[in-house]
Amino acid sequence: MADFNPFDPRLRNDPYAVYKTLREESPVFWSEIMQTWMLTRYDDNFAVLRDQTRFSSDRTRASNRFVQQMEEFRQASGPVGRTPTMLSQDPPSHTRMRTLVTKAFTPRVVEKIRPHIKEIADELLDQLAEPGRLDVVRDLAIPLPVIVIAEVLGVPPEDQGRFKAWSADIANTLAGPFQPPAIMEQAQRSSNEIADYFLEQIELRRRQPRDDLLSALVSAEEQGDLLSEDELLATCVLLLVAGNETTTNLIGSGMAALLQNPDQRRLLQDDPSLIPAAVEEMLRFDGPAQMTSRIATEALELRGQRIEPGQVLLCVLGAANRDPEQFVEPDRFDVRRASNRHLAFGYGIHYCLGAPLAIAEAQVAFETLLQRLPEPEPAGEPEWGASFILRGLKSLPVASKVVAAG
Ligand code: HEM
Repeated sequence: MADFNPFDPRLRNDPYAVYKTLREESPVFWSEIMQTWMLTRYDDNFAVLRDQTRFSSDRTRASNRFVQQMEEFRQASGPVGRTPTMLSQDPPSHTRMRTLVTKAFTPRVVEKIRPHIKEIADELLDQLAEPGRLDVVRDLAIPLPVIVIAEVLGVPPEDQGRFKAWSADIANTLAGPFQPPAIMEQAQRSSNEIADYFLEQIELRRRQPRDDLLSALVSAEEQGDLLSEDELLATCVLLLVAGNETTTNLIGSGMAALLQNPDQRRLLQDDPSLIPAAVEEMLRFDGPAQMTSRIATEALELRGQRIEPGQVLLCVLGAANRDPEQFVEPDRFDVRRASNRHLAFGYGIHYCLGAPLAIAEAQVAFETLLQRLPEPEPAGEPEWGASFILRGLKSLPVASKVVAAG
């Protein structure tokens, strides 16, 4: 393969053919355009993600000039941008920050809010402007995660619109150095606005703590050296950005897979107990986070390629999840797949903190969609977003009669 071009229009609708060529021909591939290694086999991704000694998440260690530019940009972005989050730190800082938030997202905590997630999903479908026609992305996949995370953090529901806009702007920076300057500048403005917004909310919690995650984080910050105010801000923004776009994309891509595979959709309608396995299959088949990155801390060799310290490795999770060495018939969407150890949430110490919440939201979304839209049909062309890192639909029009919540 000549090079991996992140702007290749073919990637937008279907990156999997390009991944296949890479996986078969050059599983440890040097991209001149991006100045990074790309890993596309399951075993290599797994080995890198579980080894935080030789592979760091700290972007300031990267010798890649694009990543360095991105770091400079971040540091000029005010308190949110210049403070590293747990996602880009190694132990012990990573452990300290992650421990403070983990408790809020355990499966047990998430189970408690599940009935409320169901109420929100039903309300969203009750509010459709045009019964019989909906855009699954606009009408359900976008608002559901934003409402849920705003409630978990404890910010007022009327601010959800602004939340969504800020979060989408900041999520764009994940494609970082390859984005036009206007997008980066918009992200910077949103990052400053959101910092001001959270500072106000934090001040309210200092005066009057409530039973929400923000109050818990404020109390950790007040108890001494556990969390600085900038870290508190950066954590709130991380939770918002990491959780919104991704969960939206999972619901959108999952619904697209069901529309393309009506036999699989009918299996779920006949036996809703298959929904949890179906959500895992959606994560594997067309996951929202197509890649993450690590920086080599020492010189090493991988499949005969010499990797220098400071070089960036892109772990192409979307490619690992279609590796035939790991998954039987990987290009088949199979809601009854037996063994499904996908890497859609990463692996190791940075394994997605919000996975239990994202899974619960997606399960509820599909329970609701399949129950209330008995015969969904595509009603126009789905429109994929531009990012090759965060993959997801911008629009997914569907026609179906909508039945009342049962
Ligand atoms: C389907 C939805 C989601 C997907 C596919 C996803 C994917 C990922 C992946 C791949 C990582 C690991 C990145 C790495 O190793 O470099 C990660 C980390 C993370 N995710 Fe998610 N995520 C989702 C939803 C959420 C939600 C709902 C939240 C929070 C509300 C969240 C919060 C986080 C946080 C805080 C981290 C950093 C963990 C750490 O560094 O220890 N994510 N996510």
